[in-house]
Amino acid sequence: MSVGQLGPGPAWACALALVLTGACAPAGPDDSAVCANAPPVDWETFGEGFVTQNCQTCHASTSLNREDAPPDVHFDDAAAVWARKDRVLARAAAASPTMPPLGGTTADDRYLLEIWLTCGAEGE
Ligand code: HEC
Repeated sequence: MSVGQLGPGPAWACALALVLTGACAPAGPDDSAVCANAPPVDWETFGEGFVTQNCQTCHASTSLNREDAPPDVHFDDAAAVWARKDRVLARAAAASPTMPPLGGTTADDRYLLEIWLTCGAEGE
């Protein structure tokens, strides 16, 4: 196989995933290009570590110093993040993120955040 042939196409990969696991990521038409070759990412493998490190100092429900983060905006578990998926993506996954306020996330982490909330299973 030459370097140009990086493997099977998305439809084939999806069919294989269906056979192997009984599941195929529910990616919409607009997400398929992004999700086709994305690594599997969820709360356990990425999300928890990411929000603990980058968000929870201000956004945990138990935070002792919220630095004016809104009282109802917490990211204690996967469900809480998914419930604010659109806002999390808008504030933290963009090319010039506005959360955390002082920055500090890497481009790799912002990519994985987008993959998680775009391609992952809702609530996981
Ligand atoms: C140093 C404290 C601090 C950290 C760390 C922090 N935030 Fe915030 N956050 C705030 C403050 C203050 C506000 C309210 C002002 C604003 O919206 O800019 C806020 C508001 C928000 C809101 C609600 C407003 C909206 O735009 O919907 C979201 C969502 C949010 N933050 C996401 C995040 C995410 C995701 C992270 C981690 C990647 C994060 N924040 C890290 C302080 C913080």
